[in-house]
Amino acid sequence: MARKTNTWLRIIVHIASILPLAVLIWDFTSGRLSVNPIEDITSRTGTYALVWLILSLVCTPINTLSGFKPVMKLRRPLGLYAFMYVCLHLLTFTGLDYGFNLNAIIQTIIEKRYILAGFSAFLLLLPLAITSTKWWQRRLGRFWRQLHRLVYVAALLGVLHYVWLVKSDIREPLLYGTAVVALLILRTPYIKNVIKKIRTPPRQENTHDPQISPN
Ligand code: HEM
Repeated sequence: MARKTNTWLRIIVHIASILPLAVLIWDFTSGRLSVNPIEDITSRTGTYALVWLILSLVCTPINTLSGFKPVMKLRRPLGLYAFMYVCLHLLTFTGLDYGFNLNAIIQTIIEKRYILAGFSAFLLLLPLAITSTKWWQRRLGRFWRQLHRLVYVAALLGVLHYVWLVKSDIREPLLYGTAVVALLILRTPYIKNVIKKIRTPPRQENTHDPQISPN
């Protein structure tokens, strides 16, 4: 039963993660994007990257709060899909926007702080994606967990990148920021202990104690 749940959850995650890319390709090839298609692609891939990154972080708190273990197996695919969208986002920027002009790209990374924040997030996510396999997990041992905590820093840099690039209405990036901070708080040992105490049922009183038994 648990195996079946796992398989179905994985299938749903794969379909739901590829669907936005399929729609984007469809919109691009059928001319359904706006008059500025590059801006559209950058905007969509950036949003998907951040949303999927946050979804990968939601798995652990769901397990802590509900005890629903199969959700833990979704962290890796969700994280890798986030990285896939980050790569497409970067490729749109470097290829479609800048024609792979390395000098111009480096100049922009240095000059624009929001690009620097986004690029730093990408640099942090790169080793996490590479070492996400079981083989690396075994090889790195305890260091693997510490390394993969950097995903929170990458998510916060992604939010900062978004906050810095919007000109007026920062409500949406702030919403993402609040989600990442809330997820970080849920991971602190103090909050984890509180949740554990709430979830653990109180010990049953021993009604069969011979000393209080009527006979
Ligand atoms: C790899 C380096 C990155 C570069 C060069 C880059 C570049 C850009 C550019 C040029 C824009 C559009 C700015 C505009 O509309 O004026 C953008 C938007 C965005 N990027 Fe990035 N970005 C990078 C990394 C990231 C990462 C790692 C994330 C998320 C984890 C991210 C999330 C976003 C979001 C959410 C938007 C706004 C989407 C919207 O308009 O609704 N970016 N990025």
